[in-house]
Amino acid sequence: MERKEISQAVISRLPRYYRYLGELRDDGVERISSQELSKKMQVTASQIRQDLNHFGGFGQQGYGYNVEYLYVEIAKILGLDQEHNLIVIGAGNLGQALLNYSNFSRRGFIFKGIFDHNPKLQGTKIGELEVRPMEEMSAFITKNNIDIAVLTIPKTGAVKVAEKLVECNIRAIWNFAHVDLHVPEWVQVENVHLSDSLMKLSYNSSRYQDIKNAK
Ligand code: NAI
Repeated sequence: MERKEISQAVISRLPRYYRYLGELRDDGVERISSQELSKKMQVTASQIRQDLNHFGGFGQQGYGYNVEYLYVEIAKILGLDQEHNLIVIGAGNLGQALLNYSNFSRRGFIFKGIFDHNPKLQGTKIGELEVRPMEEMSAFITKNNIDIAVLTIPKTGAVKVAEKLVECNIRAIWNFAHVDLHVPEWVQVENVHLSDSLMKLSYNSSRYQDIKNAK
């Protein structure tokens, strides 16, 4: 399939399509129209058609989308047709929680190692993995073909660790530290801030109350 530049807005909607299609596929559904998908996902049918048209439009007029085909193609677009090797840096509450969440490996995100600078944690086990010292990180990345690093450390240390990761030729950083990382363009950073989501929820909730009270 031809790869075109796709807007980040569309990319950010793809995982949701992927999830819904996965559920439909598990339920044995073979075909679905954009209208039906629209009802299920609460997105307009035209939005769905527009989004999927970026990839050549998998549907046929009056025939709907082939669920399995679309599911597999979106997986390819999201890079889920291949496994990704991950390391976690920061073996605290968040690092451990991510490591213990088994659904990531079902999607092909395989945690290979976990690192922490606290000597008391080094050598302890989280699931199958032993917490390693930071000094071992560079060699480990190269040896295990690591492509994604997960940063679950406080912001104070995050910039330095990110610089080290760049030196190790890491391709992507899943950043939970509350700091913006400045990295070369060949390193992709995805920032995750749960509190941002919570603040958005807070805004929407108070906005709804305002509208309700004004009626
Ligand atoms: P935690 O204190 O339980 O764990 C942090 C771990 O990182 C500790 O084991 C510590 O030894 C290690 N660490 C600190 N600096 C390091 C460095 N330079 N190199 C290697 N290891 C280092 O904290 P928790 O709850 O796991 O949170 C981790 C960080 O993630 C916090 O800074 C917190 O602000 C942030 N966080 C972000 C969230 C988000 O949505 N983005 C949600 C929750 C926490």
